[in-house]
Amino acid sequence: MSALPSGFLWGAATSAHQTEGNNVASDWWAMENAPGAPFQRSGDAVDSYHRYPEDMGLLADAGLNAYRFGIEWARIEPAPGHFSRAALDHYRRMITAARQRGLSPVVTLHHFTVPAWFAADGGWLRPDAVERFSRYVEYASQILDDVEWVCTINEPNMIAIVSVVLRRRVQGGASEAVTAHVLPEPDREISDALIAAHRNSVDVLRRTTNAKVGWTVAQQAFTPTPGNENVFARVKESYEDRFLAAARGDDFIGVQSYTSQPVGPEGPVPHPPHPDNTLVGSAYRPDALGIALRNAWEVGAGTPLLVSENGIATADDDQRIAYTQAALRHLEEAHAEGIDIRGYLHWSALDNYEWGRWEPTFGLIAVDRETFRRTPKPSLAWLGDVARRGGLPPAGDTPVPTLATGGTHP
Ligand code: BGC
Repeated sequence: MSALPSGFLWGAATSAHQTEGNNVASDWWAMENAPGAPFQRSGDAVDSYHRYPEDMGLLADAGLNAYRFGIEWARIEPAPGHFSRAALDHYRRMITAARQRGLSPVVTLHHFTVPAWFAADGGWLRPDAVERFSRYVEYASQILDDVEWVCTINEPNMIAIVSVVLRRRVQGGASEAVTAHVLPEPDREISDALIAAHRNSVDVLRRTTNAKVGWTVAQQAFTPTPGNENVFARVKESYEDRFLAAARGDDFIGVQSYTSQPVGPEGPVPHPPHPDNTLVGSAYRPDALGIALRNAWEVGAGTPLLVSENGIATADDDQRIAYTQAALRHLEEAHAEGIDIRGYLHWSALDNYEWGRWEPTFGLIAVDRETFRRTPKPSLAWLGDVARRGGLPPAGDTPVPTLATGGTHP
């Protein structure tokens, strides 16, 4: 199999709200702390706001060369038009700290959370949403001059899906959890606003930085079930492809893949119970990464790809290693077919706040939430070894832990 390119990014990813703690000016903080909210609170999260040097040190020492993290709009613009120099300086220190440790920073400007004031006035449906976001991006661009990779918006399709879930919940309807396997159709107006915001920010960032600019798209690796090819085509278009197509000509598309989901007559089919299902209830499908890469390559019309998230919610670290090894085999196959893949960033660096819940653990590093003590899991050293070699050893060379159930999927 042909070697991955030199300069390939091997890293791990986090977001600001899920790790920093006390993101008090954000809409998610307001939701979590509303009386009777059906969420666990993020609280101190894992205190990465203060402990990022340690987090980065662990990743670099393991052998990784990239770290994807977010900067938080709600901290940088806590009140409309009032920008915090101190918050921006904090993120500049993070960028410098990553570079000093040999980690290429991959910086996300918006990862699900927005300032509470932005949300209170309609969020992405505000008439000035695109302008407000662009103004924030312009301000943030001051610290990005030596950053090579910038992601404008994380998973716009998931934002447009989750907004529907949250609206239904506020209206007293459904009680679905905010998880990736319960998927109402993305809100069309919000999708359009996010696409416009992305396009505007790409222009701003191309004018103000030298960074490679893109956004990341959640991919469910949808597959058709017999007789439902038309529903499949419609679902794939509205849930994912329009967001991939909107990134054509960007410097990269961030591929985010966890599982694969069949599409039936009513749309995406919920994952049936299975002993190998992950802690968020999704099917164990490391092969999803290959499906996602091929789809993004085709719909993105040859825009380079960066795997910006791939991982598994499990309490069993052997299962995490087995999943990641299998996913990387699928990545290497896609690369051998000629797909331009620039890096692999594992979700997540740390066990962190999983949007309303603490139980699903995705991390390469465990965190004691009382003491904030970090304990690297064997999967971190394993991924670091892969990074040092520049890819997986040839199949059969290294024993990989097998799943208790044997696993049912490739
Ligand atoms: C998001 C992360 C999330 C992860 C696991 C992605 O949709 O970008 O914030 O924690 O999936 O559910």
